[in-house]
Amino acid sequence: MTQSLVPDTTLPTEIPESRQSAANAPVSSLFSLSKRTVIVTGAGRGLGIVLAEAILESGGDVICLDILPAPSKDEWTRIEQTQKTSGTYCSYHQCDITDEDAVTATLTEAAKAASKRGNPIRGLISCAGIQQMLDAIDYPLDGFRRILEVNVTGSFLIAKHTARILWDEGNSGSIVFIASMSGQIANRGIHCSAYNTSKAAVQQMSRSLAVEWGQYGIRVNTLSPGYIRTSMTDQLLAEKPEIEKLWMAGALLGRLGAPEDFKAPAIYLLTDGSSFMTGADLRVDGGHCASA
Ligand SMILES: NC(=O)c1ccc[n+]([C@@H]2O[C@H](COP(=O)([O-])OP(=O)(O)OC[C@H]3O[C@@H](n4cnc5c(N)ncnc54)[C@H](O)[C@@H]3O)[C@@H](O)[C@H]2O)c1
Repeated sequence: MTQSLVPDTTLPTEIPESRQSAANAPVSSLFSLSKRTVIVTGAGRGLGIVLAEAILESGGDVICLDILPAPSKDEWTRIEQTQKTSGTYCSYHQCDITDEDAVTATLTEAAKAASKRGNPIRGLISCAGIQQMLDAIDYPLDGFRRILEVNVTGSFLIAKHTARILWDEGNSGSIVFIASMSGQIANRGIHCSAYNTSKAAVQQMSRSLAVEWGQYGIRVNTLSPGYIRTSMTDQLLAEKPEIEKLWMAGALLGRLGAPEDFKAPAIYLLTDGSSFMTGADLRVDGGHCASA
């Protein structure tokens, strides 16, 4: 009879990996961000500000960054209420993620303050992004460059400086890039060659960083949404209202996404619940790609 590698009598806790894994904890703590601070870019509105609130609800502190001078009023009022009920902390900083000096200065200050509160930086949601619908044959060079500058270079800069903080402070952490299903498929009915190219680049950048930083306990993954109703899609729908029918035809659940649909997937990727996940893409698209 061949001997099994792990005898049936061996309890999981006696397997060496179980002792190393941060996931060797009750499920209730696997989705907690307590004692941690997470940076969220694009947190002035839309998906970013909803994910910032989700982090507070999971017990974490948040550093919100956005190019907008101030966050959306209604959402920020909710953030302030959630801070009070959860005993957490959230701050907002105007910062252009393509400006390396601004990113360094903002994150250095934020990291100092977070450590002082006893809740060091342990994660990032890189959510800032821009979109533009234009025929490729007429695409102006500066427009194409700007999309790549924000969606790819800006995402890289914020990840680089977050990883630097984690490394300097000797902490493990989780970096989550908000990519898109458009990194893997080309959307029918809308011509967005620069955006789609940028999101494919984000997915490949994530895998590359995961390979480099796994040895330091820094996990890197992408979360790829399908269509979500936000200012970004409102603008596309205003320019071309007929595409909503096409989008709905591919929506297996009979609706487009809401920013709230991404709260649990994002928290999962940030917390110890996903401690063995890196270099992966979590696609949450209401079955859109399955039906494309
Ligand atoms: N809405 C969708 O259907 C959808 C689908 C898939 C992926 N996404 C991605 O989700 C993310 C959030 O998009 P959204 O739908 O909430 O759109 P949004 O336009 O409401 O939010 C994007 C945010 O990024 C900020 N931003 C833009 N350039 C910046 C810069 N240089 N520096 C700092 N902040 C900057 C904007 O000010 C804005 O607050 C984006 O990365 C987007 O590509 C959106």
